Amino acid sequence: MNLPPVIAIDGPTASGKGTVASLVAQKLGFHYLDSGALYRLVALASEKEGIDVNNGPALGQLAENLQISFRGGQIFLGGEKVTQAIRTEANGLRASNIATQPSVRGALVGLQRSFRQKPGLVADGRDMASVIFPDASLKVFLTASASARAERRYKQLIAKGISAKLEDLLQDLEERDARDSSRGASPLVLAKGAQVLETSNLSIDQAVQTVLDWYQSTSA
Ligand code: DC
Repeated sequence: MNLPPVIAIDGPTASGKGTVASLVAQKLGFHYLDSGALYRLVALASEKEGIDVNNGPALGQLAENLQISFRGGQIFLGGEKVTQAIRTEANGLRASNIATQPSVRGALVGLQRSFRQKPGLVADGRDMASVIFPDASLKVFLTASASARAERRYKQLIAKGISAKLEDLLQDLEERDARDSSRGASPLVLAKGAQVLETSNLSIDQAVQTVLDWYQSTSA
């Protein structure tokens, strides 16, 4: 059976992998999976339902029965538009917590794989190359220094009119990096065969072009 090709892009929080992955998908005319959005949706839904971040069985069941849809660039939970609500720092932290639960990770495997449709998929997250799409045609580990990432996030927030402190952002980011990398279930790791793309000193266009060049050379 010939499955559509996958480009897996993993990396730490605020590395720019979402921006790069969606632009690569656009250039190739491929589908795009933002797997972090799924964990963020479970985080938001669990908060609404008052489920504790340590209640693995209840979180797993919630993730299993998640009523979500992606329409016209917007994300819906049940009937409610939650595109902005899932992006807050607080919900990101909650997502990082619930993502340590194997029950949640297991519940989202099938949903993530269902995005693999013709002509191809670009998927970004933490375990795209290691667990969800181990047969990906190209595996990229996209990263940048913690200070470069904190600075990027700071600029994004300020541009949106949201006040922020650089030191707080750096501290949150380092905490999330530590949790995402040290958890027992599918930690953020450099997958076998992954190519490292260090973007601290690259523009978005340069990072996108590098991924496209690498992909071209895998299919040459
Ligand atoms: O990429 P992001 O910041 O939107 O992801 C939010 C959290 O979800 C992140 O801190 C860890 C978790 N996550 C994960 O465990 N596995 C993925 N494939 C994607 C995200």
